[in-house]
Amino acid sequence: MTDGKRQILVTSALPYANGAIHLGHMLEYIQTDIWARFQRSQGHECYFAWADDAHGTPVMLWARAEGKPPEELIDMMNEQHKGDFRDFGISFDNYSSTHSEYNRELVERIYAQLDAGGYIDRRRIKQLYDEQEGMFLPDRFIRGTCPKCGTADQYGDSCESCGSTYAPTDLIDPRSAVTGSAPVMKESEHYFFRLSDFEERLKQWMASGALQPEIANKLQEWFTDGLRDWDISRDAPYFGFRIPGTEDKYFYVWVDAPVGYIASFRELCTRLDLDFDAWWQPGSTAEVHHFIGKDIVYFHTLFWPAMLMGAGFRTPTAVYAHGFLMVDGAKMSKSRGTFIRARTYLDHLHPDYLRYYFAAKLGAGTGDIDLNLEDFVQRVNADVVGKVVNIASRCAGFIQRHFDGKLSDALPRADLYADFIGAREAIAADFEERNYQSAIRRIMALADEANRYIDEEKPWQQIKEDGRQAAVHGVCTQGINLFRVLMTYLAPVLPFTAERAGAFLGVGVSDWRRIDDPLLGSPLNAFQPLLTRVDPLKVQAMIDGSKESLQPAPAAPSQPARAELAPEITIDEFAKVDLRIARILAAKSVEGADKLLQLTLDIGSETRTVFAGIRSAYEPAELEGRLTVMVANLKPRKMRFGTSEGMVLAAGPGGSELFILEPDEGATPGQRVT
Ligand code: MSP
Ligand code: ZN
Repeated sequence: MTDGKRQILVTSALPYANGAIHLGHMLEYIQTDIWARFQRSQGHECYFAWADDAHGTPVMLWARAEGKPPEELIDMMNEQHKGDFRDFGISFDNYSSTHSEYNRELVERIYAQLDAGGYIDRRRIKQLYDEQEGMFLPDRFIRGTCPKCGTADQYGDSCESCGSTYAPTDLIDPRSAVTGSAPVMKESEHYFFRLSDFEERLKQWMASGALQPEIANKLQEWFTDGLRDWDISRDAPYFGFRIPGTEDKYFYVWVDAPVGYIASFRELCTRLDLDFDAWWQPGSTAEVHHFIGKDIVYFHTLFWPAMLMGAGFRTPTAVYAHGFLMVDGAKMSKSRGTFIRARTYLDHLHPDYLRYYFAAKLGAGTGDIDLNLEDFVQRVNADVVGKVVNIASRCAGFIQRHFDGKLSDALPRADLYADFIGAREAIAADFEERNYQSAIRRIMALADEANRYIDEEKPWQQIKEDGRQAAVHGVCTQGINLFRVLMTYLAPVLPFTAERAGAFLGVGVSDWRRIDDPLLGSPLNAFQPLLTRVDPLKVQAMIDGSKESLQPAPAAPSQPARAELAPEITIDEFAKVDLRIARILAAKSVEGADKLLQLTLDIGSETRTVFAGIRSAYEPAELEGRLTVMVANLKPRKMRFGTSEGMVLAAGPGGSELFILEPDEGATPGQRVT
């Protein structure tokens, strides 16, 4: 653990205000949030501040189309975005908009400094102009035939078919995407930021270790190509901040967007009474970390630090780029239903599921991340529910029923607890380096160890033996304590589940320094399931809900049809079925039968072997120790792998959608179910 308390400001890239948040955004925001929560869990002073990116041509055109003031639209989006983030557990300290007075003031101040420093040039340039709409056209708003390959209807800056880049004036037969009219060339004065003046200083900054190696390499290429000056003005009509001293010129959206990082933090300083200058003056010991996608590296590693240098601010401590989110191996697609909005996800699934999945896949690099939906279900169920939550559910019942809800006064395996604590440094280093997948691997290896320990101790068996009460109490106390350490490590990733775990344990799990001492002798609160399994039907519902054109619901439900009710029987006929409470002592997969699990069941008087077709629904480890209900007088059935001596009761259509019946804790193996 670090001794010194660090001051850390964390940011994510500001989402555009003209669109809904989708899971691609969430990859970045979850990555950032895990890091911020992790820093706080180490006792550092860490703030997470960001905003909506409100300015630019698209918002201006949107407002025109709606016949509403842009302010009204961006306020509405701001509320929506904030709601999405809150419900995903993003722990931002401030969420603002770049269209704020704080931002205007800072942008003007920075611009004045740059101008005074001689870093702003004014030059007349020619650009395509839409006479019908009365506006200059950004590259993205010009379409035409690619000059290289002849493909029709390409953007003004690059061709999606052959990948070549060009100037919009090179397009064959260019058209305005706004009105469809043929644009004309028109001249106007533009303001340029002299990026090339900063080459040496940018090289020094790059050498300070602020960048990932692959990004540093990219920068090296850009230096070799030569830095070009940057056009920072746009002519009216534009939605943005007017450049002081001009009538009709506005700052290009990418000028005021990153300043939004500082402005949002400044707003926070006012609210919390923090010393803004101490964080942002050159030489500040506070840290500033920007999380961004790899598509906006140029802005964050060249323009942004150069602007800060030129205006007398400190530079970022680090800029971290991540890759793109793919869904099932392909780019998110509206027609396939894989362009999933944050809200659509939340309508169907728990936020901790996605947070866990992203964490399990994120490394420190810029590689793309694939959300494979089948893997998502299986991984979250196996790891979070099957391994971690399961430890608590296996132990809590015994503590409640036999030990008055209280933990024992000593750990039987202090050494095992010490092993768990011993992993703290390595796990913390992984989080610090944004190697979340490695952190998750270590944590899950510990979870396996904890489960193995309980398997070996078999509290469900020991509890029936004379004189073993104290031992069982110890085993379960040990289990609960191991669970507590794991939940502490996972708290930055699973904030909602961690909150519930804290309520159950009677002590919060958000501070990593608290686990030095185990919880002993203290009462536990009632155990409620901390997180339930991912239901694949809900994943499907989310995909269906994301399809661009929702078809009217088909007459036949796509849900598995409820089976017709069976013919009536008498109570005597029912009484022929001998249903018994059973404890699952062991569960293992069956070689050569990928649908089956071999279960060893304790029904009080004897143990039974049963082959159950529940392999796709459960990991063997998560079943061990649990209670269920079996048909005990079913005629034994010879199978290829052995004889099945009964049947376990489960509900659902089959496959991974099967749910075994489980009585409340308190039922005893062998009891007849009537
Ligand atoms: N407004 C700019 C950022 C200004 S920061 C001063 C912007 N907005 S955005 O809405 O397009 O993207 C916001 C962030 O989300 C960016 O870092 C971008 O890389 C990230 N992502 C957007 N789509 C993404 C995926 N499909 N996958 C991963 N990240 C993605 O850029
Ligand atoms: Zn082309």
